Amino acid sequence: MCFESTIDGRSEGELWRADMLSQVLEYARSQRERYVQDLLEYLAIPSVSAQPDHARDVKMAALWLADYLRAAGLRAELIATPGHPLVYAEWSGHDHHRPTVLIYGHYDVQPAEPFELWQSDPFKPVVRDGYIYARGASDNKGQHLAHVNAVASYLRCEGTLPVNVKFLLEGEEEIGSPNLGSFIAQHRDLLACDCVMISDGSLRSLAQPVLTYGLRGLAGFEVHVRCLAHDVHSGHYGGNVQNPALALAQILAALKDAAGRVTVPGFYDDVRTLSAEERQSLARIPYSEADLVRETGALAAFGEPEFTISERRGARPTLEVNGMWSGYTGPGSKTIIPATAHAKITCRLVPHQEPMKVIQQVQAAMRAAAPAGVEISFSDERGSPASLIALDAAEVQAAIRAAQHTYGNPPLYELEGGSIPIVHDFQTQLGKPIILLGFGLPEDNIHAPNERFALSCYEKGMEASIRFLAEL
Ligand code: BES
Ligand code: MN
Repeated sequence: MCFESTIDGRSEGELWRADMLSQVLEYARSQRERYVQDLLEYLAIPSVSAQPDHARDVKMAALWLADYLRAAGLRAELIATPGHPLVYAEWSGHDHHRPTVLIYGHYDVQPAEPFELWQSDPFKPVVRDGYIYARGASDNKGQHLAHVNAVASYLRCEGTLPVNVKFLLEGEEEIGSPNLGSFIAQHRDLLACDCVMISDGSLRSLAQPVLTYGLRGLAGFEVHVRCLAHDVHSGHYGGNVQNPALALAQILAALKDAAGRVTVPGFYDDVRTLSAEERQSLARIPYSEADLVRETGALAAFGEPEFTISERRGARPTLEVNGMWSGYTGPGSKTIIPATAHAKITCRLVPHQEPMKVIQQVQAAMRAAAPAGVEISFSDERGSPASLIALDAAEVQAAIRAAQHTYGNPPLYELEGGSIPIVHDFQTQLGKPIILLGFGLPEDNIHAPNERFALSCYEKGMEASIRFLAEL
C-alpha cells in the first residue's frame, strides 16, 4: 500500500503506518544477530579522540560509519574539521511536508586506561552474559548505531521512512566538541530540522525510561605549581624549601569544606533555586544511596547535606580534581622534593552559570590559597554552559509515547549530571526541541573499565527509535 495514493488519507494512512510499524519492528528483530555483529565490528576501532596516537583510528571509525550509513540507504559524507571529521548523512522522501529529525551522536570514545582492570581487551569486543563489553559500547557507539539500524530497518523493509532523517555524528564529543559549535553556526541550513534526537545516556532500568530535561555544563583547566628549578635531594634541602605537591594539596583542600560545599567566593551566585514542584518531580526518581554505592563502590555517599542525590547530580554545581601528578611514582623510593605539581580540574555547571566566570572565580581562590614560595599558573581553560530543555513540544511527546510503548512505562523526568556540550549550541543555533532519551543503563561503566552495553538495551533502543520515527 502506498501512502500517497490513499483516498481517505487519515485513517488509511494511520492503518498503513501501524502496519508498516509492526513490519519494521519484526524485521529489526529478525536482523538481531547481524546488528550485533555490526556493532562488534564498529567497537573494535579504537577511536579515542583524546590521544593523538589514535587519530588514524578515529578517522577509520568515521569512514566505517559513513560506509555503514550508505549501506543503510542514506547519503553520507565525511566533513573535515580542524580536528576529527564529522559524519553527516541524510535521507529525505518526496513529501516535503514531513518533519525532519536530526539525530546526533558521537563515534569517539574515552581512553580505555587503566587496561589491566579490564576483564577483556577494551577494543576486542565480546558478548558475555548478555552484554557487549568494549570501550564505547554504551557511550556512545551502541546508542547511535541503534538509531542507524532503526533507519536501516525502515529502508530495507519498506523502502521508505515516515519522516526525513539527518544524522550528525561527531568524533570530538569526549574532548568537549571544540569544532562542532562553529560548524553548526555556519551550516544552519544543512542542519535545518524540526527536532534533535540524542541518545547518549541511560534508562533507570529496562522497564523505566528517562527523559532528560537538563544537562550540566563544564568548566575546566589545569593548574601548575612550581617551587624549584628542578627536583632536589629531599634530605639535603628538606626543611629549607617549599614542597609543590604539599602546596598544591593545600590549595586544593581550600576549595571545598568538609560537608562538600565549594568554598570559592561567588561560586553559587548564579545557581537557580529549585521550586517545590521540581524537587517533588525529581524525588520521583527511584534512586537511593544504596544504588549509588552499588554502581560506584563508593564507601558512602558524599555531598551537600541539604540536597538529595538527584538534586546534587543535576541541579548543583561541583568542583572535582580529575588527576594530579608530581614527583616520583615508580617502584621503590626516590628521596626528592619535586620541582612542580599539577592537577586537572573540572567544575560541573548548572543553568545560568558562565564557564569563563566560574574559571576565573576558582583560579582567584586558588591564587589566594597559595602559600608563600609558590609560583602558580593555569592552562587549558575550556568550558560549555549547561542546558535546560522544555518538554512541551509535540516532538518530545512523540518520544514520550515511543518510550512508553517500548519499555512499558512512561518516562521519568531527570536532570543529568553529565554534559553533552553541543546541546547548548543546538538550542541557540537551531532553536528546535531537543530530545534526550538514553538507551543505556546506569551500570554500563561508561568512562570506566569494563564498559558494556546490554544486548537488550541495544534491541530496545532500536525499537524505541523505530517507534519514535513512526510517532513523529
Ligand atoms: N554520554 C556522556 C554524557 C552523559 C554522562 C550522559 C552520564 C548521561 C550520563 C558524554 O559522552 C560525556 O561523557 N560527556 C563528557 C563531556 C566532556 C568531555 C566535555 C562529560 O560529561 O564528561
Ligand atoms: Mn562520554
